[in-house]
Amino acid sequence: MDGKIVALVATKGGSGKSTLALTLAHAKPFQGMQVAILEADRQGSLSRWWADRQAAGRNGGARVYPFYDDRAEPLIDTLAELAAGHDLVLIDCPGESVAYVKTKVALAFSDVVLIPIRQSDFDMDSAITHVLPLLNEAREAGGRGTKYFLLPVMVHHRAGLEKTLGTFEGTDAKVLPAILPYRKAFTEFSSGGCTLQEYWPAVRQKNSRGQAKKAMGDVDTIAAELARELGIATPVG
Ligand SMILES: Nc1ncnc2c1ncn2[C@@H]1O[C@H](COP(=O)(O)OP(=O)(O)O)[C@@H](O)[C@H]1O
Ligand SMILES: [Mg+2]
Repeated sequence: MDGKIVALVATKGGSGKSTLALTLAHAKPFQGMQVAILEADRQGSLSRWWADRQAAGRNGGARVYPFYDDRAEPLIDTLAELAAGHDLVLIDCPGESVAYVKTKVALAFSDVVLIPIRQSDFDMDSAITHVLPLLNEAREAGGRGTKYFLLPVMVHHRAGLEKTLGTFEGTDAKVLPAILPYRKAFTEFSSGGCTLQEYWPAVRQKNSRGQAKKAMGDVDTIAAELARELGIATPVG
């Protein structure tokens, strides 16, 4: 495989996986690269985004490849094919148990695994049920070279962040030194098959436009950290 593979993994729906996959795919550090999204989640939100994008006649963008088969071998083959033809492949995983095939394959075959943790519903119970099993699986996959990071998402208050991350004290969880704040723009940009880059300049209201532009900056910062971990050269400036 030539291209880098990044998986967005969480055992819970509504964790921000699809939003991250879609925004990271178009972030500044990856512009000019061939980026694909492998949509392994049957929910199909990113396939719908791609269909909307085609219908709206928008050019370019990261192509979404749906993959809803539940067998490991075809998934590994598809990943290998996509990685051979792209610089970067992002896997949007289903919110499923670590025991299931797609999550296992994603953890084992990715260069970097990002585990979004949602601040609002975070506590020790949630950590034990949803994140620690993932970290255990990722650690095993890490023996084969996979790096994995927690990424706080939908962050409302920086102050609350410390509490969220405190839940992982005493574990060997690594946290990406970037966060995704809670912003309305993230819930709105993708309609009509838009990217965040296409969306923000078209926002009418000045304050909202400013917020949407900040949202893009948030994603670029995460992408820069990701690019660094992947060892992908990023353009200066
Ligand atoms: N940073 C964010 N700020 C505000 N809303 C967000 C953010 N990230 C995701 N959302 C919203 O939260 C919901 C779940 O996000 P989604 O990416 O679909 O999660 P998943 O793919 O893990 O199920 C969606 O309605 C999405 O628009
Ligand atoms: Mg999703």
